[in-house]
Order: sequence, then C-alpha cells, then structure tokens
Amino acid sequence: MKKVSIKDVAREAGVSVTTVSHILNHNEKRFSKETIHKVMDAKEKLGYFPNKNAQQLRGSKIKLIGVLLPSLTNPFFSTIMQSMDQNKPEDVDLFFLTTTGKELESNIKHLVERGRDGLVIGRLIENPEALDTYLKKRNVPYVVLDQSEDHGFTDMIRTDENAGGQLAAEHLVELGHRSMAIVQPYEMMTNMKDRVHGFMTYCQKHGISKPAIYETTLSKAGGASIVPSIIESKATAVFAINDELAIGIMRGMADRGMSVPNDLSLVGYDDIDFARYIIPSLTTVAQPMEDIGALALTLIMKKIQNQGSDTEKIELPNKLVVRETTRRIN
Ligand code: RIB
Repeated sequence: MKKVSIKDVAREAGVSVTTVSHILNHNEKRFSKETIHKVMDAKEKLGYFPNKNAQQLRGSKIKLIGVLLPSLTNPFFSTIMQSMDQNKPEDVDLFFLTTTGKELESNIKHLVERGRDGLVIGRLIENPEALDTYLKKRNVPYVVLDQSEDHGFTDMIRTDENAGGQLAAEHLVELGHRSMAIVQPYEMMTNMKDRVHGFMTYCQKHGISKPAIYETTLSKAGGASIVPSIIESKATAVFAINDELAIGIMRGMADRGMSVPNDLSLVGYDDIDFARYIIPSLTTVAQPMEDIGALALTLIMKKIQNQGSDTEKIELPNKLVVRETTRRIN
C-alpha cells in the first residue's frame, strides 16, 4: 500500500503543501478556521502521519537515541528500558535494540548510519578505543552502562559491584555459612567479575575457605541445570551472579525434593521484580535499575546538547535486600 504523503493531504484539502506543513506543525495562526479544518479533515480521511525521519533530515528538534542491550526478556534490562521510556522528554525518540557482543560493533555502525544523535550501550565493548574514535569522528556521543571498565574517556553509569559482592558474602558469613559456592555464567562480564572479586575478598579476609565456582548459562535454565553439582559440593550457601540464575536454582532444588533455604541458602543479584513475589522470596543484592535508566538518559541528553564537556562517571550504590532464601545455620 502506498504511503500517504503530505502532497496527498494538500491535494485532498485543496491547499498548498506549505499550508499543510504549517498547520500540522502547529504554526497555524495565520490561517482561517476553514482552511485548518479542511487540512485536519483531509489528514484524518487519508490517515496521514508525518515521517519523523524526514523531519529529522530537515533539522527538526527530535533527538534519536539508540539503546543497545543484551536482552529484552531479563527484567533487569527491561526495567532499565522502562525507566528510560518513562523519563524521556517529548523531543526524544528511543530506539531499543538487543545485540550479542560479537554484533555490537556492526549494530552501532548501523544505528549511526541511520542518523542517531546519541547512543546508550549496555553491552561489553571489546575494542573501546576504536569505537571511541569512530563515534567521536562522527560526533555521536555515547554513554555506557552495566560495565566496570574505566578507560578514562567513556561516560558511564555503573554500580559498585565490588561492594555488592561483599554485601552478599558478609550476609552469608554472619548467618554462619562457611562452605559456599558461586554460580556464574560461562561468559563473565567485567562487572560480574567485580562481584565475584568482592565476594571472594570478603571470604578471604574472614578466613573462610575459597568458595567453589560453578559455571553455567546465564538463565533460569542454567541455574536449574547446575543444581546437581551444587548438591554434590555440600555447600550450605550459594551466591548466584543474578536473580534469574537464583530462580533457576530454586526450581532445580525443588525438582530434587530439596528446599531453599532449609537445604541451601541462596543470594541473588539485581532485585528484579519477581524476587519479592516468588516463594520463598529471594534475598538479593539490589541494583538501582530505575535510577540507572533515568540517569543514562539524562547523561546522554547532556552529552548531545553539550558535546565538549568532560567525561562523566556516575557510580551508584547497591544494597542487600534480606528476604526468605537465606537462613542461619549452626
Ligand atoms: O541480569 C543481568 C545481569 O547482567 C545483571 O546483573 C547485570 O548487571 C548484567 O551484568
């Protein structure tokens, strides 16, 4: 079906294209009520809507921001997206895209070629220097989130992952756990490595034997499938690198007639919304997802408006939320 153009609206209304353009862009003061009605009626009748890309090319003030994330289904990322969407000013359009690490670079180039004003990148950047050069050359500012690396030239929103891991360890050690395990993905992001580092360092400082590490896929299924190894390890407590893994571990335990926290204490990471509703509710290290989304948006807008400003890093705190999956042991 042919797309209705502004020319079709002008023809239908019997006025010029310029008149239609003025009226549809709320610049209608100098036109009679009758002309305005004719244009609005023609627009309605033909189902015309303006082409935002064309407006962009003509220098409209709408800002297009591309947001690249690893997943749309993990509530950690969808909460960030929702927060960005809810906080976006009227003159901003967000374009969300999921990407694997391998495809990140080509996806970024694709977005830049399509004319984005700025990017928010929530995926590990493999070659940060090259990407920085590429984007700066094209005057496309970017902000990264959910990463730890500080190259000195990247604007970023991150959380204190090291402290997050320590909080999890401290809680379990206070409850009397001495034999612990960590469940992490095969592919570790640097921020996740920081979590593990924080957990390990706390254990080491307090004379707790080194937690065993089990690797699996970063998903609920991955958590469920690693349960036989956890049971065999005789660990009394597990730190799961995110809540999805923790939920999977709970399912795997239940499938084997075992229970959390009676047979295993469990701490997750993120505090996705399911965490408080599942039974038992999940003890976890909460990341401020809404703030991450809102601040990423504020920062990228600032960069778009004033590209020459200094590099900014915003580090947000994480907090432990104690619920029902952890218990005291002798
Ligand atoms: O749930 C997704 C996890 O991967 C989160 O913990 C986030 O920080 C990311 O690294």
